[in-house]
Amino acid sequence: MHESSHTETPYTALGFYHKISQLRADTWNALKRDLGQLVRLGDESRARNLVKAIDVKLTRLEIIEDYHAFPSKEDFRHLWSLFDREEYVLLEKVVKRLVRALISESYRRRHVDLSETDADAEDLEALDALAQLRRGHPASNSSAQPYFELLIVDNLSPQEEEVVREAFHNMRRPEDRFVYDVVTVRSFEDALIAVLVNPNIQACLIRYEFPYKSKYNLSALRNYLEGLSEKELEHQTEAERSILLSSMIHELRPEIDQFLVTSGDVEATASRDIRYFNRIFYRETDYIEQHHTILRAIDSRYRTPFFDALREYSRKPTGVFHAMPISRGKSVTRSHWAGHMIDFYGINIFLAETSATSGGLDSLLQPYGPIKKAQEYAARAFGARQSFFVTNGTSTANKIVVQALVKPRDIVLIDRDCHKSHHYGMVLAGAHVSYLDSYPLNDYSMYGAVPLHEIKKTLLEYKRAGELDRVKMLLLTNCTFDGVVYNVRRVMEECLAIKPDLVFLWDEAWFAFATFNPTYRPRTAMHAARTLRDRYRSEAYREEYAAWKEEFDKLDPDDDATWLERRLMPDPDAVRIRAYATHSTHKTLTSLRQGSMIHVYDQDFRQRVEAPFHEAYMTHTSTSPNYQILASLDVGRMQAEMEGFELVHAQVETALSLREQLYTHPLLQKYFRVLKNSDMVPAEYRESGVESYFDPVTGWNQMEEAWARDEFVVDPTRVTIAIGNTGVDGDAFKNEYLMNKYGIQINKTSRNTVLFMTNIGTTRGSIAYLLDVLIKLAKEFEYRWEESSRPERKIIEHRVHSLTRELPPLPDFSRFHDAFRQCSETPQGDIRRAYFLSYDEEHTEYLRFDNGELQVEMRGGRDVVSASFVIPYPPGFPVLVPGQVISEEILFFLQALDVTEIHGYRPELGLLVFTEAALAAPPET
Ligand SMILES: Cc1ncc(COP(=O)(O)O)c(C=O)c1O
Repeated sequence: MHESSHTETPYTALGFYHKISQLRADTWNALKRDLGQLVRLGDESRARNLVKAIDVKLTRLEIIEDYHAFPSKEDFRHLWSLFDREEYVLLEKVVKRLVRALISESYRRRHVDLSETDADAEDLEALDALAQLRRGHPASNSSAQPYFELLIVDNLSPQEEEVVREAFHNMRRPEDRFVYDVVTVRSFEDALIAVLVNPNIQACLIRYEFPYKSKYNLSALRNYLEGLSEKELEHQTEAERSILLSSMIHELRPEIDQFLVTSGDVEATASRDIRYFNRIFYRETDYIEQHHTILRAIDSRYRTPFFDALREYSRKPTGVFHAMPISRGKSVTRSHWAGHMIDFYGINIFLAETSATSGGLDSLLQPYGPIKKAQEYAARAFGARQSFFVTNGTSTANKIVVQALVKPRDIVLIDRDCHKSHHYGMVLAGAHVSYLDSYPLNDYSMYGAVPLHEIKKTLLEYKRAGELDRVKMLLLTNCTFDGVVYNVRRVMEECLAIKPDLVFLWDEAWFAFATFNPTYRPRTAMHAARTLRDRYRSEAYREEYAAWKEEFDKLDPDDDATWLERRLMPDPDAVRIRAYATHSTHKTLTSLRQGSMIHVYDQDFRQRVEAPFHEAYMTHTSTSPNYQILASLDVGRMQAEMEGFELVHAQVETALSLREQLYTHPLLQKYFRVLKNSDMVPAEYRESGVESYFDPVTGWNQMEEAWARDEFVVDPTRVTIAIGNTGVDGDAFKNEYLMNKYGIQINKTSRNTVLFMTNIGTTRGSIAYLLDVLIKLAKEFEYRWEESSRPERKIIEHRVHSLTRELPPLPDFSRFHDAFRQCSETPQGDIRRAYFLSYDEEHTEYLRFDNGELQVEMRGGRDVVSASFVIPYPPGFPVLVPGQVISEEILFFLQALDVTEIHGYRPELGLLVFTEAALAAPPET
């Protein structure tokens, strides 16, 4: 480390790893600017301050770059020597080249020699930069060898480090599929920092003895190192430390391929828990072996079996005597009218369109070849036991899972504001539905999620009524459209303590990306299932459980508080982990529209579910599944395994930048209030007490704590903005202001909020554009007010008041009518019976509520029961389902709604309800 690096404590700036890549880019750019200024100023006195600032920046960058292969440590020595010799002109030149190489990513394609400042090198980078500009994004590696970095953990001297690096460089061959460079770190902590801050690391070679502590003091690791006692670590053997490191790297970045090089007791090492190492090398193993093993490991993630098969197929000459005139473009290439379809899509998509399932391809309905492989890879990527591709969206994936697991009359506990596919799925499966209420956010006309207390209370009701056996499944949305995320593990733990074989279906339509970030991942269904399975198998858990049970058995089991007010633990001898997750891959990762996956972690899958699952899959899957969707799922999986960590990280960074601006910009704050964690999660569900992940003084440093502990957290990449102060409602704001004026597309609104979602494709540029638009709009609202007459101001005030104060409380689920219930003690209803009862016109009638007709019936003592789903958009969940009794609150809510789109409601006729006669003696349906 350079001696002049004592001027500032640079670590604080690195305290939180969330914004490290932005910090990296920004600091290099700022350094370049400072140097440019310094060179222009010459000897002026102001120059001294600049020199100091440059020193600080170089010091900070040296720490960051310690964890990256480019610029190398040698490059940095070169920078410092220029700085120390005050050769600022040359230093500026070198830094400029370096920044250009970082931005254009040319270092991924060829060696950038910073000691050379010749014109040729400059030209090459200029060409790179130009290519990048033309593409509108950083140059992709589509045709070149993809690049990655190999992390070596070993306590090496700088000279030894150079030797190792050189040795790996010498292995390179032009025919290699990938090219890589080497980053070396010298301690346990540094290895963890490296995998967190450097997304290029794809493989890790843990070598000989290395100390525990980093020379830096990075608080980013605080959360990850919790529970590790330094004392114990200091006394570990070499093997123990390596194994612990590998498990922690796996927890942070499970995709990284890890290898162990050991000189110690080989047999003793091999007999330990070395499951996270792909392979162990012994000291005498040569570099060639290591090199090829590493490349092979990377290749097994990079492969895309189905996409490759489809491309291969598209190149084969084939005669089509089958369906699909469009395959190979035949029906359009010679068309006089439809040729522009080819102009638009290009020929490849037609070459890849086929109804064949042989000739190297595969059948989705009975996969045996590349689709099977692609699904196995998906299971690996998402931490599932089995994964299945679905080509008709999660709407279909949900119905498949429900049908596979639920028989008619099985009881399903389900959040009422879940996606409509579930409600229809319940009808199809004949489930008896027990709706759970999410906590309402009345001020914003939206729901949160279902509190654990509510779930446990419902399960307890079933237990007390002797009906627990019939409860088959708990179905919840994780995360919700608005970004409320469950503590999945805690929910499963406590529910399994009451019902040890409960099946969980987590609708993670919006959460596929979460698997690829270490903060998000523990809140995914697959991770929680795997963690719990490991936990319940351990001796340590048995002991913990025995102690807990002893205390629990002293309490009164008939007292609700016994169950509801303490954390429950499942019996390890009875518990079965049975979790399913559905992902709209297309919503948050790379996939064509409708690309979805089902992920399974069910201990009983093979024995009890496989056959019905197959039937359910057959029920809902087209016999002509779209190959392009399947191929895109395959590529999406590969991309997520190769660069999901980087992309999600960048997504979080851009969202945090957007939030930071919105939190701190005075004019924006006046009209657009970003909802924080505390706005969307009531205090009783925030054990950590964290109100906002952002603090103007300390920055972004509270997210991990909330995510590790709280019952609910908000995904910061979904930015909900309350716009009530603009006097414009969510729907109008979306259409008239964002879309029509500025071409900004959003999806979700409530009466007084709009949701801006970032995703792995969101760039810093698009965030800057959005902010620019919001500032323009805020100014527009400002002028509107200033220029309004007194009556006009009254109107605006009235609208603002209505949008911020007059919000109808969101109604809870009322109840199913007795005609659709078998048990008066428990709440479930036979939704299917109600649904099909409405098919006969004589059983239903319309009643209007806008003219008081329906209210008169209700006040006369009639149970008015809905015969259909009634779904207003927004909020987009059914306020009424078939068989549900209409309550005063629901009517009030419907009357207060000022939306135009209400599915299942015809204003000129009213609500479709069952006749009293139909309810008195409902015929069998
Ligand atoms: C929670 C939830 N589940 C499922 C779906 C359906 O997903 P898809 O559009 O992939 O069919 C959606 C769609 O918005 C959703 O929000």
